[in-house]
Amino acid sequence: MKIKTLAAGAAIALVVISTAMAHEGATGMVKMRMDAMSAIGDHMKSISAMLTGKTAFDSGLVSKQAEEIAGHAAAFPDHFMMQMDDQMSEAAPAIWEKPDEFNKQAAELAALANTLSIRAAEAETGKSLMTDFQAVAGTCKSCHEQFRIKK
Ligand code: HEC
Repeated sequence: MKIKTLAAGAAIALVVISTAMAHEGATGMVKMRMDAMSAIGDHMKSISAMLTGKTAFDSGLVSKQAEEIAGHAAAFPDHFMMQMDDQMSEAAPAIWEKPDEFNKQAAELAALANTLSIRAAEAETGKSLMTDFQAVAGTCKSCHEQFRIKK
């Protein structure tokens, strides 16, 4: 349900942004993408710290943060639909050359983060979630290798 709500929200945001764009240039959409990625990165750090025992394991929090990652990932196809000419962006042109592949990787992240969220809700220990977590982390790397030009 949450994902559906987020996707609907993204659709609304798209409309708002495309109107705003005439005034502000491309920065709005690119900033939104980068903010979403940063939020994903922060959640991954937080989950990793809990799973490795650096911070106290809170199954509810892991579940919630994984669900939010899935929500962001589900919105990638919408958010990355338009190619933007923005100096700040690290988005590779390959995204628009191979949109199907990009969207497939986004869907993979969404699915694996969802699985982590569901498993986390019932997990007793952080350690038991390590395999699911690593599966999620693997999608970051593989998508970045193909679709992100690090600046
Ligand atoms: C479907 C492809 C895809 C997946 C999966 C993906 N990313 Fe990204 N990521 C990108 C792209 C493209 C950019 C560059 C966006 C831009 O600069 O406009 C990016 C940028 C980032 C950034 C930099 C944001 C900034 O402010 O510069 C972080 C942090 C990040 N990703 C974290 C993650 C993490 C953590 C995961 C896995 C949980 C992940 N990403 C999964 C495509 C992906």
